[in-house]
Amino acid sequence: MDKFVIKGGRRLTGEVTISGAKNAAVAILPAVILADEPCVIENVPSISDVNISLRILKEMGAVVENIGKDTYRIDPTGIDKCCVPYETARKMRASYYFLGALLGKFNKARVSMPGGCPLGDRPIDQHLKAFSALGAEYSLSQGMIDLKADKLRGSQIFFDVVTVGATMNAMLAAVKAEGLTVIENAAKEPHIVDLANCLNSMGANIMGAGTDVIKIRGVEHLHGTTYAVIPDQIEAGTFMIAAAATRGDVLIKNVIPKHLESITKKLEKIGVSIEQYDDSIRVWVEGALVKANVKTTPHPGFPTDMQPQIATLLTLAEGTSIVTEGVWEQRFRYVDELRRMGADITVNGKVALIEGTGKLMGAPVKACDLRAGAALIIAGLAAQGITEIEDIFHIERGYDCMEGKLRELGADIEKVSIPDKAVGKNNKKEAV
Ligand code: EPU
Repeated sequence: MDKFVIKGGRRLTGEVTISGAKNAAVAILPAVILADEPCVIENVPSISDVNISLRILKEMGAVVENIGKDTYRIDPTGIDKCCVPYETARKMRASYYFLGALLGKFNKARVSMPGGCPLGDRPIDQHLKAFSALGAEYSLSQGMIDLKADKLRGSQIFFDVVTVGATMNAMLAAVKAEGLTVIENAAKEPHIVDLANCLNSMGANIMGAGTDVIKIRGVEHLHGTTYAVIPDQIEAGTFMIAAAATRGDVLIKNVIPKHLESITKKLEKIGVSIEQYDDSIRVWVEGALVKANVKTTPHPGFPTDMQPQIATLLTLAEGTSIVTEGVWEQRFRYVDELRRMGADITVNGKVALIEGTGKLMGAPVKACDLRAGAALIIAGLAAQGITEIEDIFHIERGYDCMEGKLRELGADIEKVSIPDKAVGKNNKKEAV
């Protein structure tokens, strides 16, 4: 078990390079199963969710080689198992993409119910609705989801809620289905477009990704590809806020500024200065930070995965801010930890009222999920004194060498091992 120890109060300055997007990579890696030839995937972030995806591919019979920094050659032609067992699937949410990919390739799949960050009820009814529409039958028993189909046929799929996971899973399952599939009320996140671009580079015929109607004309074969994952919009946003919270001046490289629009606009309202270039963005603070209201919604709205980070920034701003969570039931679990650092936040259901106190104080805290952990790092960097963050395995699921990148920017942050006997009985090593 490790923890981060942060001595707060240092301005972040300099340059940081953003890694590939977690939520794109965890769908693109299973997508490789659909190809009849090896694929090379570049700009793959070095995070534990990716390691788990690669391990699942290997366990199923794929040959996975690390052929360069952040680049993997994956040969799926030897895959002879269609099962992802409980022990691996429970460790991350994105294991559900193996359902769509295996079903799309072999007309069958057996995957354990997925794990992931504890953000409240996380049903998969819309995923199952999409698989059924394409002609698959499903059954749930002993925590496993079984899918099988004689043949997959293109179909009309209307999602009752806007869902990233079910949209991508429907794409994976439909890409080789006979005829036309139309997905309506589709999610529009950048990683949806990235998965479509990757599949199209393998010979798929997907149109409309990035809008709420996606049309997929099934093809018989998908060939190999060389494809680079897009930069991580949420990692970039997290560094933007870390720069602002420490009143620093940081050039954030390898970003797609268009993907950061909702974050950029909100930060400008709060008083953060931002300059955009082709593939980088500079963030710095000159005057006072001021209150703002934020509501998270699906893309192109303000992303839920940036909610804990911006709420943390607003504790440092003047005035009363209101943050409304529009996607997850339980995304304010980090608030108790921020209160330990002096934040004045009241939560009522999906709404948090933040009284900006202008300062935070170091304290021992625990990350309860991935983005909560990122928020606590930001709080620790801005706080006076020392912050110790436990349960950082959550953070390592989604941030590629966070502490190394922050150190390069001048942060005083160390990863320290906690001896096993000092770890409380209730601490779990894996996210479930
Ligand atoms: N929903 C349903 N039924 C379903 C699927 C979703 O009701 O079958 C509901 C959910 O309960 C939620 C809403 O739809 O209220 C949106 O869920 P979505 O399916 O979009 O979320 P997800 O695919 O499980 C992905 C990201 C999350 C991110 C959300 C929203 C991955 C692996 N995870 O989750 O990322 O918060 O989209 O953008 O892509 C994170 O990176 O920290 C993270 C939690």
